[in-house]
Amino acid sequence: MRFDYAGTSVFVAGGTSGINLGIADAFAEAGAKVAVMSRNAERVNGAVQELSKHGGKVLGLQGDVRDFTQVRTAMEAAKEAHGAFGVLVSGAAGNFLCPALDLSPNGFKAVVDIDLLGTFHVMRAGFDFARRPGASFINISAPQSISPAPMQVHVCAAKAGLDQVMRVLALEWGEHGVRVNSIMPGPIEGTGGLSRLLTETERPQFESRVPLRRVGQKDDVANMALFLGSPLASYITGALIPVDGGVSLLGGRNYAGTPQPTPRA
Ligand code: COA
Ligand code: NAP
Repeated sequence: MRFDYAGTSVFVAGGTSGINLGIADAFAEAGAKVAVMSRNAERVNGAVQELSKHGGKVLGLQGDVRDFTQVRTAMEAAKEAHGAFGVLVSGAAGNFLCPALDLSPNGFKAVVDIDLLGTFHVMRAGFDFARRPGASFINISAPQSISPAPMQVHVCAAKAGLDQVMRVLALEWGEHGVRVNSIMPGPIEGTGGLSRLLTETERPQFESRVPLRRVGQKDDVANMALFLGSPLASYITGALIPVDGGVSLLGGRNYAGTPQPTPRA
């Protein structure tokens, strides 16, 4: 199915690599005016170059989701250039494997600050720059939101938290015509997240346990974002939607791959 996003302003926080860049790319291909924001200038420039191949309006902005002022400033520029957001994606995240006994409070905080606080910043600032009524807000969650996984206490806490933020905002902002949902990707090929969670050696055994017997592709997630942003999803809000080949049904130990948690450098 083809989606037509001509004229729609889309803002993707953390949209310069991996799954989030895949989402930005799908919207750009469908005709949207796309703004992406992340910390690293080189990555921002690379993403702009890639997204520009579709011929539409693209804006790259430097900013850290942990800093509310930086988020607001980037969004102001995006609204000025492309108009009020029809779709807003909050996808920035941090991840590494570490048993709780080896995790410093600052290590826990580092991930919670990006994933949870960062998502609140993006949603809260985004409300002021969004098309109301009519905007679709999409958070990028993970199976760790519902499946406790060893070596992932920081990620499980952060993703569960951001999904509760999503549900509360869906309750509060429905009356403004703003829908708020989360996509829960499974392990996705060619991303920073997958390379941090699974080694190439572990992968075949892991894939044999995935109900659909494969890791996902960036397009699998991008297709759900295109759907959620469209009128086809106009009665969907407050939903956590798995795009994971059934991985979330397995529980956290299976997701982490190894039967006994061991720290990895
Ligand atoms: N194991 C244990 N602790 C770790 C760690 C690891 N692999 N990596 C970082 N930490 C700890 C650090 O030791 C530090 O704690 P300390 O001050 O008590 O020593 C704390 O986390 C913050 O580290 P720092 O490197 O300053 O964080 P940062 O804010 O620069 O980066 C990360 C945040 C660590 C999440 C970094 O990996 C990142 O920026 N990731 C973004 C990309 C990503 O993770 N993509 C996957 C998405 S699923
Ligand atoms: P990735 O390739 O590592 O990309 C992460 C992106 O977030 C980068 O563009 C990064 O750019 C940006 N970012 C990180 N910290 C940021 C910050 N503080 N402020 C602004 N931007 C920041 O990630 P990924 O693996 O594709 O994961 C994308 C999303 O999908 C995440 O929410 C992740 O939890 C979720 N997810 C991934 C998988 C998977 O298999 N990969 C599975 C389930 C869920 P800069 O470094 O330039 O800031």
